Amino acid sequence: METHILLLGLVVVLSSFSLAFSFEPSPLQDFCIADTSSTVKVNGLACKNPMLAQATDFSFSGLHLAGNTSNAVGSRVTPVTAAQIPGLNTLGISMVRLDYAPWGINPPHTHPRATEILTVLEGTIHVGFVTSNPENRLISKVLQKGDVFVFPIGLVHFQRNVGTGNAVAIAALSSQNPGVITIVSAVFKSNPTIPGDVLAKAFQVDKNTVNLIQSRI
Ligand SMILES: *[C@@H]1O[C@H](CO)[C@@H](O)[C@H](O)[C@H]1NC(C)=O
Repeated sequence: METHILLLGLVVVLSSFSLAFSFEPSPLQDFCIADTSSTVKVNGLACKNPMLAQATDFSFSGLHLAGNTSNAVGSRVTPVTAAQIPGLNTLGISMVRLDYAPWGINPPHTHPRATEILTVLEGTIHVGFVTSNPENRLISKVLQKGDVFVFPIGLVHFQRNVGTGNAVAIAALSSQNPGVITIVSAVFKSNPTIPGDVLAKAFQVDKNTVNLIQSRI
């Protein structure tokens, strides 16, 4: 009898561990390489025949190349998600390379499906995230080469190159498909746009100011 209770306790403890460690659904097989030609809609991507697995299904080349930062924000994200590595499908992880020109920013955004852990390879980067309502506390830090910082899942965060030269970072994300919601784009550049009076009242400005922002981005 006591052994049964002990076993039951063990099962409860183990199952809560597996919940805590696997945010995305746990794989039911060794791997599930995305079959990019499949039109089947599943949570994730349909699997191709595992007997046809190749090393190329699990690899990507090109993260040694700097991203082009000649744009309005002065940064570039090079993603390596399940879209670039079909073998990442169902495995709950991905990565990105981030390049920043001097004073370049990665504008405030969130990843709806992933926590992010970032390490600086070159340069000096000011990073931060904002906690949820009602505190909305900004937690930020200036990172040097080799420093690591975590952006908790779903929270709005940004990076800014505050060094003298270019900056480079690598980040890992806890989803094969983290998703990105760039705040400015979602709020001011949706399709169709959020009604101007909604934005004017939300930001406590007049509609012309809303139009001005919308015309700039
Ligand atoms: C970088 O992007 C800019 C703007 O799109 C473009 O004019 C330029 O040719 C690109 N540079 C390289 C090296 O691809």
